[in-house]
Amino acid sequence: MIKKKLVFSGVQPTGNLHLGNYLGAIKNFVALQKEMKCIYCVVDLHAITVFQKPHQLQENVLETVASFLATGLDPNKSILFNQSSVSGHAELAWILNCVSRIGWLNRMTQFKDKAGSEKEKASVGLYIYPNLMAADILLYKATHVPVGADQKQHLELSRDIAQKFNNDFNCKNFFPMPEPLIPKNVSRIMSLRDGTKKMSKSEDSDYSRINLKDSADEIIKKIKKAKSDSEQIPDNLKSLEKKPEALNLINIYSEITKNSLDKVLNEMSGKEYSFLKTKLSEVLINEVTPIGKEIKKLLGDKVYLGQILKKGREKANIIAEENLKNIREKVGLI
Ligand code: AMP
Ligand code: TRP
Repeated sequence: MIKKKLVFSGVQPTGNLHLGNYLGAIKNFVALQKEMKCIYCVVDLHAITVFQKPHQLQENVLETVASFLATGLDPNKSILFNQSSVSGHAELAWILNCVSRIGWLNRMTQFKDKAGSEKEKASVGLYIYPNLMAADILLYKATHVPVGADQKQHLELSRDIAQKFNNDFNCKNFFPMPEPLIPKNVSRIMSLRDGTKKMSKSEDSDYSRINLKDSADEIIKKIKKAKSDSEQIPDNLKSLEKKPEALNLINIYSEITKNSLDKVLNEMSGKEYSFLKTKLSEVLINEVTPIGKEIKKLLGDKVYLGQILKKGREKANIIAEENLKNIREKVGLI
């Protein structure tokens, strides 16, 4: 049997998208729509596992759609919609809650990081979040899932759940095993202030990240303030092993200029980091500020953004309902 390739990925509407989201995931979304059928989802049900102000959540959903469009996602080629508008996600999540095992969820490092020492006070939703993610993917029988490295463990769980469902209900190959598509060098863009932490929306200091909506001045200021190294730029990667902040800047520069790390080190070795920072600011301004301008422009037409979501929801719902019909039947739900 030839499996039809289908891409699915999700992004949480929890505020500013940043360079990590862009290089680690969204840039890949755009490239993939040229080769395969793609479904991209603003995962609002995932966002509410941590309290969101209702009005702010609505704004953030629209801003995430605007960001998708501004980076080049084409609503005529790909399906763009928000998760809560297709009720099949919640229904399949429940079924998969009954397939997934507590022992599997107990291994999830993102829950441990997010819940921290206040585990007893975390929402139940935050704990079973990975089951909902598996439902997102399996609802469409997606075969490929572009994500950053932080989602690798969740994707492995989705595969375990798919496998167990196929075994339990005696339907080999019913759910395909979803393949992660994780970029090689930029799967984990690090914070500009601490190279051991990933760049994240939730980090307190805005200086830790480049947001897609940052102005040229903000980009220059943030890169100037970014941690680097007091020594000169070395000519080999090995010397950067214990210098995660410096390596992160070089990595971002290499990705955006599409030059290999070796080539960048060749060009820069013996120079001060201020030289790299000037060049990095220039290429970031070229790449990021047109996206930011487009996001702001699109946010001026919320009716249009609402129409994109409506069209996407209708298309997603057709696939979801068709698959759910078969899933209900397999499980024995009438
Ligand atoms: P989130 O904003 O957590 O919903 O993440 C959306 C996508 O961006 C996911 O595929 C993440 O893996 C990816 N992502 C988030 N932060 C980073 C980062 N610092 N580096 C690379 N990818 C990231
Ligand atoms: N958990 C992902 C994140 O935080 C978002 C997500 C939800 C997702 N459902 C998904 C990603 C399905 C890929 C596929 O980044």
